[in-house]
Amino acid sequence: MGKKTGIIKNIIDQSMVNYLLDYYNKLPKADNGLRINADTLIDQDFNNRFKDKMQNIINKDLPGSICHCTIYSDYAPGGIHSDGYIEAKEKYPLANTILIPLVSEFQQNATIIFNESSEKAITFNEDTGLGAKGIRSYEQEKLPEGEGVSTNFLSTYLNHLKVDTLPFTVDSVLYWSVGSALYWPRERFHVSANFPKNTERKAVVILTNEN
Ligand SMILES: [Fe+2]
Repeated sequence: MGKKTGIIKNIIDQSMVNYLLDYYNKLPKADNGLRINADTLIDQDFNNRFKDKMQNIINKDLPGSICHCTIYSDYAPGGIHSDGYIEAKEKYPLANTILIPLVSEFQQNATIIFNESSEKAITFNEDTGLGAKGIRSYEQEKLPEGEGVSTNFLSTYLNHLKVDTLPFTVDSVLYWSVGSALYWPRERFHVSANFPKNTERKAVVILTNEN
């Protein structure tokens, strides 16, 4: 029940994609070193209409209520992290991260989902050669010992990470397609597959709670 990983084909149509791209252009943005984020401020009263719009879209296929929504444009692939709670546990249990690509110039754009998880939002960026880039308010953790990802997998998808092995096992490789929704449980570790710099990528990311 909302604790799976998968893809919902064409959850939005091209006119909604264009609406969201327009919306991104209007919002204030912040650059975190790997991508430009525009927080849609769905937790503000004046944005209830936008929140309802997004809520209706996702609830056709997935339960849960939206607690955060960002539209972003990334120019370099990020590191392994979970989208769990930031400092304290949230009022309701974690549900899904939902990623809807809006622009995906590189054909093989994908997001890798691991089986391992952390309910607290953490990253391993420092330990995988990305330093402090790509960090919002996620805590840095040391990469645990162990190996679960093959060298072949690493060189195919994750050659932007400076590691010889990873202590995780792969659940799925979710390929991007514009207007479809990729989803996974928020506590699961995930990472962007590598993509060429200067290829355009934009996406909406929605975080939900169970309710
Ligand atoms: Fe994430």
